[in-house]
Amino acid sequence: MDTTNGTAPSLPVALTSFVMTVIISRLITKNNHHVDVQPSSEPNDEQTYPQHPSLPNPSQALKLIKTRRSIFTKQFSGKPVHQSIVNDMLEAARWAPNHHLTEPWRFIVFESPGARLELSGLLCKLYSDAQEAKGKPILQAKIDKKLKGAQLSSHIIAICVSTNGVKNPFVEEIASVSMAVQNMHLMATCHGVGAYWSSGGIYGPASSSSKVGIENPEELSQFLVRHLPYHKSGESITCLGWLYIATSTEI
Ligand SMILES: Cc1cc2nc3c(=O)[nH]c(=O)nc-3n(C[C@H](O)[C@H](O)[C@H](O)COP(=O)(O)O)c2cc1C
Repeated sequence: MDTTNGTAPSLPVALTSFVMTVIISRLITKNNHHVDVQPSSEPNDEQTYPQHPSLPNPSQALKLIKTRRSIFTKQFSGKPVHQSIVNDMLEAARWAPNHHLTEPWRFIVFESPGARLELSGLLCKLYSDAQEAKGKPILQAKIDKKLKGAQLSSHIIAICVSTNGVKNPFVEEIASVSMAVQNMHLMATCHGVGAYWSSGGIYGPASSSSKVGIENPEELSQFLVRHLPYHKSGESITCLGWLYIATSTEI
């Protein structure tokens, strides 16, 4: 799109630009999103965009974004992650954009082996209940994976969104929480720590009919409220998943 003279683009230019955008976004989403698309201009053109001396330059930022990858249970080493790293991740999270500054994220950190074991026990039960309700078999491999994930991770963070907000559509609150999780993920990468988002156990039987497709099982909601470090009176939360944090030999 030609923006040099400050006027609105002509229709053919706008159409070409639109078609190119669609092609590029299809390239990005096809075959997972790890397809390199060359930017049309140098990202670090300092004459156009003067660099802040203390900030990472665009190619460093892009490198961080591309280096961030989900690190899964089978890559976990079992060594603990220092609490200061998790604190850095939480600090990064709270700088995520959020409409009307509602700060809708609620994170619950499960750190001790006992707390992680209790959580994984619940996740195994929720999985078994859901399989039974669907008339499907309970796979021991899935159960083992959940138990192993909790055992080998260092911290598990429940990714929750406050459902009490009235200022924004709920989907915007979920978007903000997701951006906060990306911030945590990027910070973990900077520290050489592995992480991945799991959505195990968050969908209850009523989920498909709910406005945003998520209705946590009642047992999960009660468990989370019990573990909230602080509880604003009357506030309810919805869990969007779990951020497993672990050391890994792979990064
Ligand atoms: C909202 C969300 C939910 C996810 N849930 C799961 C999950 O339940 N199990 C899983 O193995 N990975 C899950 N993932 C991680 C994806 O599998 C992972 O992001 C994807 O494979 C792309 O890999 P990358 O993160 O390394 O780019 C989830 C990711 C997101 C954003």
